[in-house]
Amino acid sequence: MAPYRMRCIECGKEHDMGRPAYACSSCGNLLEIEMDAGEAAKRLAGSDFRKRPISVWRYKELIPVGPKAKVFTLNEGGTPLYDCPRLADAIGLRRLRVKFDGTNPTGSFKDRGMTVGITKAKELGMKVVTCASTGNTSASLAAYAGLADLRCIVLIPEGKVALGKLAQAMIHGSTVVTVKGNFDQALDMVMKSSEELGMYVLNSVNPFRIEGQKTAAYEVCDQLGARNPEFLYIPVGNGGNSAAYWKGFFEYEALGLVEGHPRIRGVQAQGAAPIASMFVDDSDRFVPVKNPDTVATAIRIGNPANWKKTVRAIRRSGGTVSTVIDDEILKAQRLLAKREGIFAEPAGAAALAGLIKDLANGSIDKSDDVVCVSTGHGLKDPDIAIAQSGKPRTIDASMSALKRLVQEN
Ligand code: F0G
Repeated sequence: MAPYRMRCIECGKEHDMGRPAYACSSCGNLLEIEMDAGEAAKRLAGSDFRKRPISVWRYKELIPVGPKAKVFTLNEGGTPLYDCPRLADAIGLRRLRVKFDGTNPTGSFKDRGMTVGITKAKELGMKVVTCASTGNTSASLAAYAGLADLRCIVLIPEGKVALGKLAQAMIHGSTVVTVKGNFDQALDMVMKSSEELGMYVLNSVNPFRIEGQKTAAYEVCDQLGARNPEFLYIPVGNGGNSAAYWKGFFEYEALGLVEGHPRIRGVQAQGAAPIASMFVDDSDRFVPVKNPDTVATAIRIGNPANWKKTVRAIRRSGGTVSTVIDDEILKAQRLLAKREGIFAEPAGAAALAGLIKDLANGSIDKSDDVVCVSTGHGLKDPDIAIAQSGKPRTIDASMSALKRLVQEN
């Protein structure tokens, strides 16, 4: 029996995994892949997965693509879980680890989902792939579409995508369309037109994207030696990655590979925080933010498509979602860079900013065991790094000028 089914997250209706689908044909809610842990465990038992290098496809028995599928990969995953003693010391935590997913092939966690999503797109026989993006999804999709020889059309909000991400989408050969609107409007367009235009959507509403991204949680458990952290801090934008991490931890526990699961603490930027508001108000009512704004353009999202999925996931984990302001995000970005040599883009520092705030307000104790997820590389957004750093010093081309500078205190 196949260990996977695709179901609606709300009414449970089963959908055919052999056809492109993102939302339930009965009630319109999102779809997710459900794993039968017993069947999946049988598959794993007969495999040598522990001998494979740590990566997304190390866990291929737990990824729902057909046995004959041709896998399109750039060797994604296997990202470092850094022990960060200097950072822990600076923020007043006994021990801190950072899962740096900015070291993926295109510089963000999106590659984990895209290798699976593009493999699935080819399995389904799709010819054109598309997404709306705040930048990283488009960069990743463009790279994998090139690899798989698929036409790729990406929609990005005009003027709000970091330079590095734009460069990536362009050099990999996608058709880049700038929309005079925000991410939420671009995603709305993609979702409404994809079926009519025969395009396969590779935003995180695509359940196969989540199946790739969940491997980051498997990796964290494996890197800790078959153990979970007590808390996992993660930035939340469209809500896909936090839901994916929960799925990974939940499945690993169900498979008997680890005991228990971490509490997930999502972090949103204050100007784009509709999910955090639900937690603050302890409410089930989702109210989108009309004009989201934050320096962390990757999570500048007011109407997260996965809100229901991730709110459930984070609640089930015993976690919560909080907010941080832009200054806190930038301070965390500098701390990561200066103290640990980890250059994250602003969204990739938001989780650390949330942790620092929780330490200050007492909702984390200094002895708690914490992993922070850093989702994207700092080179994606060079402008923001330069804007908050001192200007380079200019000196005459002479030894004496250099000597004077070195001898300054
Ligand atoms: N961090 C980075 C660096 C991101 O690029 C994103 C999302 C997130 C965090 C939030 O993850 O949406 O799964 O909750 N970027 C998307 C994009 C929206 O288009 O690249 P999420």
